[in-house]
Amino acid sequence: MRSTRRHLLKAAAALPLAAHAWPARAAAPRTLVARPARVNLVGPAYPDTEVWSFDGTVPGPIIRIRQGARLRVDVRNELSQDTTVHWHGIRLPNAMDGVPHLTQKPIAPGETFTYDFAAPDAGTYWYHPHSRSFEQVARGLYGALIVEEAEPPPVDRDEVWVLADWRLDRDARIQPDFGNLRDLSHDGRVGNTMTLNGQVRDDFRVAAGERLRLRLINAASARVTALEFKGHQPVVIALDGHPIEPQPPEGGRIVLGPGMRADILLDAAGMPGERYQVVDTWYRGREYRLVDLVYDDRRRRDRPPQAFFRLPANKLPEPDLDRAERREVVFSGGAMGGMTAATLDGERLDPRALIERGKAWAVNGVAAGDHDGQHDVQPFLTLRRGTSCVLAMANDTSWPHPIHLHGHAFRVLSVNGQPSRLREWRDTVLMQPREKIDIAFVADNPGDWMFHCHILDHQQGGMMAHVRVA
Ligand code: C2O
Ligand code: CU
Repeated sequence: MRSTRRHLLKAAAALPLAAHAWPARAAAPRTLVARPARVNLVGPAYPDTEVWSFDGTVPGPIIRIRQGARLRVDVRNELSQDTTVHWHGIRLPNAMDGVPHLTQKPIAPGETFTYDFAAPDAGTYWYHPHSRSFEQVARGLYGALIVEEAEPPPVDRDEVWVLADWRLDRDARIQPDFGNLRDLSHDGRVGNTMTLNGQVRDDFRVAAGERLRLRLINAASARVTALEFKGHQPVVIALDGHPIEPQPPEGGRIVLGPGMRADILLDAAGMPGERYQVVDTWYRGREYRLVDLVYDDRRRRDRPPQAFFRLPANKLPEPDLDRAERREVVFSGGAMGGMTAATLDGERLDPRALIERGKAWAVNGVAAGDHDGQHDVQPFLTLRRGTSCVLAMANDTSWPHPIHLHGHAFRVLSVNGQPSRLREWRDTVLMQPREKIDIAFVADNPGDWMFHCHILDHQQGGMMAHVRVA
């Protein structure tokens, strides 16, 4: 049992290196196959779990490319339902964005679709289907997409942590209650088992004195995480791929809603033989230990390096706030939300009638229909290409929502009327209940772009719209 686990750990540790081997600049095509697989999630004491995977593993393979390089991927669908792949956070051409009906025909079972695009921004990104995402992501379809800086900064190890959440029964089977109305109208399908790179893990091994770059990706379909590294002082260097001034996380916790990422520098300041917990404290009363940092006998150096580096900024267009078009966006609905009515497929419906049709949420009074990108639905906002835009967003609900915009990065301007401390670039921002957040971006990427909550049950439940840049 021990040796199995060790073996698996070794295999996981080898992954990034193997991925490195794939050529950086060439548009070498690779294949990604979406298919069912059996994997061990919970450990040798439990049976394997039937999942949906990319290439038979959960998470799917780490894809690493150099900034500016092209990526070409043939995605073959060996599932029993339509799928697509969305490259979350990448500012790519609209036709490569992977939204069924809106940007492409869904990839039917047995079919292949070729994605081909350049990655303009360095950073930590990820890929996942955009078709019945509330089921497909929750069954295991996602992977990390790492865009490396031209000159990656010096660290001893560059590691990806893909965090995912599962709702399993006692035999480690995925409970098939996708899209149930309770999850949909409350905090989404929060599960009962957290995995780190596809496994419930006891240990993450470190060497005294080493410096790690940890790329944290919240790939859960609904669970928000707030990680604390006991006995350590992580330094955040990037959010959603984009560099910030290096600094400790606010309140000592790294908060990531579904879809969000953070790059941190973790200096292993402990001593050989020590062990420290990494805990997730987001849900009160439901705190748990994600993994232990375990110091082995090696000592990399006597103390970690002192200086922190700032990553080179990505070249993002700066919104012109004086001339920006300003739009209000109100998110409403959900349990205890007080929403009185919303429009669905042109019909004004009360919450009772909405829930009968599987809808509970609205963006500016409109609940989105069942397809991720319904071709017959009008954009809620049309912007001329090159326009600067401020979205004044209000979360008029009793639940947190990670709000995601495709095809662009936006600046977080203010929170509840107060200028935001970091003014950071993001592609997904977590809004607390009743919170107001202003964001700004330049609509420089033509096409129809999804704008939705990344709690995927909320998205399915109507919390979705799209912006047209024409
Ligand atoms: Cu990560 Cu519209 O999705
Ligand atoms: Cu939401």
